[in-house]
Amino acid sequence: MNKAPEPLLPPDVIARRVAELAGRIAEDVPKDAPLEMVVVACGALVFAADLMRALPIPMTLDVVFAKSYYGRESSGSVSTEVSLRNSLKGRHVVLIDDILDSGRTLSTLVKELSASGPASLKTCVLLDKPSRRAVGIEADYAGFTIPDEFVVGYGLDDVDGLWRNLPYVGFFKK
Ligand code: IMP
Ligand code: MG
Repeated sequence: MNKAPEPLLPPDVIARRVAELAGRIAEDVPKDAPLEMVVVACGALVFAADLMRALPIPMTLDVVFAKSYYGRESSGSVSTEVSLRNSLKGRHVVLIDDILDSGRTLSTLVKELSASGPASLKTCVLLDKPSRRAVGIEADYAGFTIPDEFVVGYGLDDVDGLWRNLPYVGFFKK
């Protein structure tokens, strides 16, 4: 197995930022209905698990699947599996992903979820790699802006599917 990745964001730094994001989301979201959190699996599961427990407001949860990476390269096309248990009609939705890279995943999912008629739809990512953007989209909430490194941990995986359970975000030194 590979050597452990070099730490980029340690657990305490992530935890503080996640609490800040939760505070901002809780403040911003209209309170006329419970928030609906839609999580992009599998990468955003760890982030979402921490974020939702820091949210002091009522919320419901659903999951969608998206795949755009093959190995360490973005394939340029996104395949999604959106089969929601909750209706988004009239709901205030926050879509959670692990990382905003080319932007294709988030913009594809925003289009698909918008078609269900939510009252509002915001996006929240833990990590943002603006240098890689190919599609004009920014997240409403972003935890950390990071350089163009392939990162793993805290939910994000490598080519072999490993490292999601690493408690920090790290990268492999070249
Ligand atoms: P985008 O569609 O190019 O914005 O890519 C977003 C998706 O690609 C994310 O949801 C991740 O699953 C994956 N991804 C992008 N960059 C990385 C990375 O550095 N490490 C692990 N996964 C990544
Ligand atoms: Mg993903």
